[in-house]
Amino acid sequence: MNTLSYDFLVIGSGLAGLTAALHLSDEGRVLVVSKENAAEGNSSYAQGGIACVIDPSDTIESHVEDTLATGCGLSHPDAVHAIIQAGYERIADLERLGLVFERRKGKEDEYDLGQEGGHSRRRVLHAGDITGKKVMEVMLSRVRECGNITIQENWLAIDLVTTSWIGVEGNNRCAGAYFLNKENNQIVSVQAACTVLATGGAGKVYLYTSNPDVATGDGVAMAWRAGLPVRNMEFIQFHPTCLYHPNAKSFLISEAVRGEGAKLMDIRGEAFMDKFDPRGSLATRDVTARAIDHVMKKHGDPYVYLDITHQSKEFLKERFPNLYATCLGYGINMATDPIPVVPAAHYSCGGVVADVTGRTELPGLYACGEVASTGLHGANRLASNSLLEAVVCGYNAAMEISSVWKQFSRDVPIPAWKLGQAVSSEEAVVVEHDWNEVRATMWDYVGIVRSGRRLHRAHRRIRNLREEIRQYYDSYLVTADLIELRNIADVAELIIRSAEQRKESCGLHYMSDHPTPAKHAVDTVIRDQPGGPLT
Ligand code: FAD
Ligand code: SIN
Repeated sequence: MNTLSYDFLVIGSGLAGLTAALHLSDEGRVLVVSKENAAEGNSSYAQGGIACVIDPSDTIESHVEDTLATGCGLSHPDAVHAIIQAGYERIADLERLGLVFERRKGKEDEYDLGQEGGHSRRRVLHAGDITGKKVMEVMLSRVRECGNITIQENWLAIDLVTTSWIGVEGNNRCAGAYFLNKENNQIVSVQAACTVLATGGAGKVYLYTSNPDVATGDGVAMAWRAGLPVRNMEFIQFHPTCLYHPNAKSFLISEAVRGEGAKLMDIRGEAFMDKFDPRGSLATRDVTARAIDHVMKKHGDPYVYLDITHQSKEFLKERFPNLYATCLGYGINMATDPIPVVPAAHYSCGGVVADVTGRTELPGLYACGEVASTGLHGANRLASNSLLEAVVCGYNAAMEISSVWKQFSRDVPIPAWKLGQAVSSEEAVVVEHDWNEVRATMWDYVGIVRSGRRLHRAHRRIRNLREEIRQYYDSYLVTADLIELRNIADVAELIIRSAEQRKESCGLHYMSDHPTPAKHAVDTVIRDQPGGPLT
């Protein structure tokens, strides 16, 4: 087995990982690992933009208030304040690196700020309607120019290595990780003084999602198997408006479209959001996705419509060039036709317990971006707060690591990986079936509306599947499909266990048999024994 040694290991090349890597490169040698090409991840698909207090008439207090209100009592005020307060500086960094945010037409010194659900005013900086693509282009160019950073694509992290697992004496800490090189199916280990977990989200746990294929919750699963606590996993955000079209795989229609006045209506043309919330079509995502779910189930409709036909073709082409062109490619003219949409799993509000500097309970391991639960999002994430969190916490993690890393040795010997047998093609088919079964079970029973009975049923199925997957895992050579299957199943069970613990409805977690919120909502924290010896 090949073992590499770096000062810093960053797992994940989204906005959080690249931000951390760029700032760590002043201190030492950084390896950034990505399981596909480096641009692939949720960051690249972000549309709406980055929420930030930048308009002179906006205030930190107002953004904090909107975030706390959306989080339904479970956001941690200190974390919310710290992240929002730091936003302005990190946006200035992005601009220094080369990112250009849209300005108001004819007013080059004023940002064109977008409006999204739950925000009491316009405060979302954007680069057209492809903010994520633009941010990632800039970040990747800067990272690739940096002599101290190596990017390794097509390596899939399998598990973290902790010193207690490998029998090294002293306080337990993270020593690095094992990877599968997907190009030659060899296992590689990486030793590092500090490891940053920036593996993003877990949308692929569900059958329908806005997330790309890489979002299989690997970071949460790896951290949990290493014995770290995970928090508030029941709060899966369903984005209300993903394009409904047989050929469109997970294409999002940005909430910024509702910000420009689009209305939701049923397929008979009746607008319905005012019946569910005084904010109408600009209600937060939890309320909006539930309302759509209700309307679709009531009438047995396969989708609802998002109607922005009151805006001119010229406006739509300029404000939403990518959305306009993509919809047109599917035969939908946004200027004249309502857009068929459905909710889909979009964002994991919970994750690995970490503070706003990325510190986790395990020395040497830091977590930032969507994989982490810093306390910002509580029971529901305010739109466009996650790119903000990724850039702020990625930076903070680099600063924190820079001040402590020299106390950690990077040369803990990592034992060789124990190989199993090759998987026969018959078994490979079973792996594919299990993928579908995990995702369909989560969609059917642990979706927008839940109940004790459905959760119980889902739990039984996922538990059985996990046992079956464990047997494959123990017996056969690991493949990327098997590793990711194990992760989606582990994360599925964490979501269900968290959901079963919360016998109330709060934010994104709606229980039909416990429809009211508890008097004092508390975080759900799951911590188990480390997942046993590495195989
Ligand atoms: P990601 O950008 O997802 O990066 C994760 C990285 O980890 C990827 O490189 C992936 O390949 C890698 N990885 C994962 N597992 C492994 C492994 N086992 N081994 C090696 N590498 C691994 N948020 C906003 O604030 N504003 C928006 O407008 C917005 N729009 C969105 C639109 C869409 C369609 C989606 C899906 C999300 C949107 N979000 C938005 C959410 C936001 O994009 C994400 O939460 C954020 O980008 C997460 O950044 P990240 O760096 O944590 O993770
Ligand atoms: C969107 O553009 O609707 C996505 C924004 C987000 O997820 O924050």
